[in-house]
Amino acid sequence: MRSEKGIVAAAEPEAAKVGRDILSAGGNAIDAAVAVGFALAVTYPAAGNLGGGGFLVGSIGREKETSETPQENLSSVALDFREVAPLQSTSDMYVKAKESSSLLGHLASGVPGSVDGLLHALDSWGSMSRDQVLAPAIRLAKDGFPMTQRTHSMLARKSTMNAMLKYRASADLFYPGGKPVPTGTLFKQPDLARTLDLIRQKGREGFYSGDVADHLALEMKRGGGLISLKDLKEYRSVERTPIKFPTSDGFAISMPPPSSGGICLAQISSLLEGYPFSTTEAGSARHLHLLAEAMRRSFADRNQFLGDPDFVDCQTQLLLSTDHLNKLRSSISEDVATPSSNFTSSPQGVKESEQTTHYSIVDPAGNGVAVTTTLNGSFGSKVVVPGTGFLLNNEMDDFTTRPGVPNLFGLIEGELNGIAPGKRPLSSMSPTVWHYSDGSVRGVLGTPGGPTIITNVFQVLFALDRLGLSPELAVSMPKMHHQCLPDQIYVEQGHSESVLQQLKALKHKIVTRSNIGDFQLITHLNSRGWTGISDPRGGGASF
Ligand code: GLY
Repeated sequence: MRSEKGIVAAAEPEAAKVGRDILSAGGNAIDAAVAVGFALAVTYPAAGNLGGGGFLVGSIGREKETSETPQENLSSVALDFREVAPLQSTSDMYVKAKESSSLLGHLASGVPGSVDGLLHALDSWGSMSRDQVLAPAIRLAKDGFPMTQRTHSMLARKSTMNAMLKYRASADLFYPGGKPVPTGTLFKQPDLARTLDLIRQKGREGFYSGDVADHLALEMKRGGGLISLKDLKEYRSVERTPIKFPTSDGFAISMPPPSSGGICLAQISSLLEGYPFSTTEAGSARHLHLLAEAMRRSFADRNQFLGDPDFVDCQTQLLLSTDHLNKLRSSISEDVATPSSNFTSSPQGVKESEQTTHYSIVDPAGNGVAVTTTLNGSFGSKVVVPGTGFLLNNEMDDFTTRPGVPNLFGLIEGELNGIAPGKRPLSSMSPTVWHYSDGSVRGVLGTPGGPTIITNVFQVLFALDRLGLSPELAVSMPKMHHQCLPDQIYVEQGHSESVLQQLKALKHKIVTRSNIGDFQLITHLNSRGWTGISDPRGGGASF
């Protein structure tokens, strides 16, 4: 999709159209982001959500065709609407509990942040009313939309189905008559429409108190979860300072802790400075080896040092300091893989759910907004709150639930990411905005994929910025991933066999895996306007 005006790229086409319509009606990128966020909660229930959380990174403030010096009035924002651990949670709450309890059912949920986050963004930087941005989502929930093939297939997955059927409201909504809603069936969600309408009428009070909150707290009591009315009342999203790092001819901004995304992107980018690359080297053994070595070092830091900055000192300055990065860079050999054990004493690695979703928006004035939002696993905890129509997250699994044991994504994390009441679990979500040196927006990037989010966002940015690839190729080219532990390079299908053999000769262990990510990219094409690329691996679209 190319456009002189704005573009919305999202993982589900109906929701992307909602964003486009908001832009056409004169809304800015934040208005569109809020409308798309609520619409995804209706049309993409595996990851779009009211019962989860996420991050928004934006370069905003530019009004339509009023400024000739955009760099003077674009401000960088990072909004953290990550879930928090309930007030009754404890550091060892999963140690003795059933092994699946951080993933499945009521105990797996953190206090949801999405509604507060989207409304905070609208109040702070939007231009439209709640009525305007919520109307499309309410209509889609009330009047229905044809069930997508993608959501149907996800619902039909045996493990998902067995888990969802355990919870009455989830079964009633998604499995009428015991079978997943068929593809193409008009899928109406009247309870969700009512919840959205309460949010429209009352703002955050429509979700965090009153009927919806009562239903949620009651269901928690019934199912052995911890979220209380007090938790809901006290939840607040937080504005943070984005992590800014240089690119060849400009800079990028991404999410700071409690996401590891921004720091890791900045580190990986810095570690690869000084290595010349050309377009013809894309996908070569040298390219993949150097990426893997930079990723390995950054993930070692991630797992050891990062957590919720309101609870622990993430030592951001140290991790991004020239001394530290020079030391890490000088330990890279072009001739052989460095064992991960050189950087970490932890026995294993990181594991996080890949079922997140991302959308990218640029408006006609050139404001750029990147939002990554999640329930963590596909359909989160699998629990629909009766009477409300929305699913709850299983984000508690992103904490170090059992020290030394890998989480859903195989990530083994440090004590700094331990559970505490009110604390946010460490994330890999990396909504990113890329800029020209004059400060105007050049691209908006993001993807789902647990820890592969960081490495995928980096690979697309690197492909555009350092390899000079086209946006289409940057997104579609086969991706790789290294997360320090386990000490191996994960590769998608499509890498050349001889490249993989050369990597093995450099002493890398190679593991082939399923598709990585569902990228939503918007980039600026100089005088030719914007292009939006929705990953061919997924079912999304850009308009
Ligand atoms: N739940 C996936 C992430 O936050 O990275």
